[in-house]
Amino acid sequence: MNLLALIEHVQGLLDQSQVHTGHGTLNTHDEAHWLVFWRLGLPLDSDALALSTNEPVYQSLSDEHIQTVLELTNERIQSRKPLAYLTQEAWLQGVPFYIDERAIVPRSLIAEVLCSGSIEFVLGFEPDRVLDLCTGNGSLAVLSALYWPNTSVEGLDISAAALEVAHINVLKHDVSERIALRESDGLDAAQGLYDLIVCNPPYVPLQSMKALPLEYQKEPDLALASGTDGMDFIRHVLPLMHHHLTPRGHLVLEVGHELPTLVKLYPQLPWMTLDTQLGDDQVLTLSAQALKDYFETP
Ligand SMILES: C[S@@+](CC[C@H](N)C(=O)[O-])C[C@H]1O[C@@H](n2cnc3c(N)ncnc32)[C@H](O)[C@@H]1O
Repeated sequence: MNLLALIEHVQGLLDQSQVHTGHGTLNTHDEAHWLVFWRLGLPLDSDALALSTNEPVYQSLSDEHIQTVLELTNERIQSRKPLAYLTQEAWLQGVPFYIDERAIVPRSLIAEVLCSGSIEFVLGFEPDRVLDLCTGNGSLAVLSALYWPNTSVEGLDISAAALEVAHINVLKHDVSERIALRESDGLDAAQGLYDLIVCNPPYVPLQSMKALPLEYQKEPDLALASGTDGMDFIRHVLPLMHHHLTPRGHLVLEVGHELPTLVKLYPQLPWMTLDTQLGDDQVLTLSAQALKDYFETP
């Protein structure tokens, strides 16, 4: 069996068992490539066809290679854990992050609007201080520090366990001099004013939590659930945000598919939406001034 045939076989097994993707890949075709490449120690952007055609070791795989890939496939199917938890690695905008069950698998669309330059376009300047509220495994904090090499970043999260994972990523990317991580309920431990607050909060409504595929149930509840309508966290922090932003500052908030609920909760807040590969209604931004006007006007 060659490499390509093995990948197709793995995809067939994943399809047959109806695993759910969405934790780094959007379909079983991509997940099968990721699984096989990772297990065989190949770079994730390898060309399976070229290797299967030109490289003797991948033209005809050893039993040992096939066996080890099938074992991982079986573990993925039986455990229903996201592949990232099994490989302890998740990629975001081409940057690798350490991950384990202490934190949600990073997949925030804020990474895309950050690395594409959309956030800097909105700001119009390089921020001095950034807050990653609900930092989880620290990926958005690390990406901010890598994107803006002169910026200092803080990452807050209520979960001490998630912050342990974030700490690993801060060290992994050698940005510990510019990133501070702190345990915090909402904005409680925020210090001073920030030019930018990025926040991918928990926002999954109760009914949706009950219907989540098994893979999502392997992630910390705290990272997903936020009360009956999914808005408990946002309700708690949004009216306070402008107190933590500089006058030129902005909030960038991810809300998944919950924009209609948010709009119902705060009608007439003048959100601007940022385009992502999954649509233009999942990542929103608002200036400090707009937040102040809204929440301080009687
Ligand atoms: C959707 S995850 C986002 C994690 C990370 N920013 C990412 O994009 O992968 C939400 C995070 O919010 C944290 N969280 C939940 N409630 C919180 C609260 N009251 N205060 C601070 N963080 C909270 C969870 O622990 C979780 O890490």
